[in-house]
Amino acid sequence: MIDFSTQYLGLKLSGPIVVSSTPLSENIDNVKRMEDSGASAIVLVSLFEEQLALESKALDEDLSRGTDSFAESLGYLPDLRDYRMTQEVYLEHLRKCKEAVKIPILASLNGATTGGWVRFAKDMEQAGADAIELNTYALATSKSQTAAFLEGQILELVAAVTSAVKVPVSVKLSQSFTSIPHLVSQLEDAGARGVVLFNRFYQPDFDIETLEVRPTLHFSTPSELLPRLHWAAILYGNMKADLAISGGVHSAEDVLKGIMAGAGVTMMASALHIHGIEHISRVLADVRYWLEKREYTSLWETRGCLSRRSVPDTSPFDRGNYIKTLSSYSLRQTVGAF
Ligand SMILES: Cc1cc2nc3c(=O)[nH]c(=O)nc-3n(C[C@H](O)[C@H](O)[C@H](O)COP(=O)(O)O)c2cc1C
Repeated sequence: MIDFSTQYLGLKLSGPIVVSSTPLSENIDNVKRMEDSGASAIVLVSLFEEQLALESKALDEDLSRGTDSFAESLGYLPDLRDYRMTQEVYLEHLRKCKEAVKIPILASLNGATTGGWVRFAKDMEQAGADAIELNTYALATSKSQTAAFLEGQILELVAAVTSAVKVPVSVKLSQSFTSIPHLVSQLEDAGARGVVLFNRFYQPDFDIETLEVRPTLHFSTPSELLPRLHWAAILYGNMKADLAISGGVHSAEDVLKGIMAGAGVTMMASALHIHGIEHISRVLADVRYWLEKREYTSLWETRGCLSRRSVPDTSPFDRGNYIKTLSSYSLRQTVGAF
């Protein structure tokens, strides 16, 4: 029998597949099915900084206006209705998830700046969250915002959350940083126990007929896994915090690649939307079959075996890969063209 057990954020987990933040876990039956299918932990959908700020603004307005109905004040803030859960609903859902399953439940906060809303992490902890994932999605839209400023904001935010709670905090990063190893080391100094590679960047699409800019959400494909593998392989062995890969994990091969790059866990969202929650058990069975055929006794024997520090030739992780890929492509093209 293959041993799948692992540690992530100091939590003992039963296997390599964690369900990443998605609305699928807004339903308690789904949460139970995730556990039954072999998910080793679940990250709940995010609560957004903007949502918390709006709710607190509504409350302030209520108090200053002397009205007695918080719900009524929400009517002044129509945008709030677009969000999936209010704070209270979120905490109640978190408590229900904790009662319904034994696997760890991670709450998710999505924000970019430090503010009063950060205190909500404490409420998540009190409601039973085993850990908190911080999604730090920030965009530079002004030329006055330097890279150092934006990174500083994230570090401040992480330090504020880690000092507010005792449970471990992981940081879900965007891919767009110049020096990811340096940032990760600073995140560790700010108290982060784990790093999730990576947030997906949901760019809006343009409709050239209506001249509108529209939000779009496409599910991922396995090709999105490659930059995650690349960075996990570079980071593994050079950091204390645990690594998770989120983005493009669809099959057993993807899970194995993630672990071989050095991740402690791999996360799934799109694959579950596409194939259903029970896809987790099929993928785990395939991982087990692959390992048994090669006479491994535990998944962790493969951990990091394709990381930058484990392979004899590190050039594929450096400029060497870039040069080799481009030059081999142009040679093939030349042969075909003449
Ligand atoms: C419908 C949907 C909703 C999502 N909502 C959140 C969210 O609230 N917070 C978050 O951090 N990530 C959210 N994500 C991103 C996923 O957690 C995940 O990081 C991303 O989809 C990449 O993983 P995948 O390739 O397995 O889909 C969402 C993804 C999907 C498909």
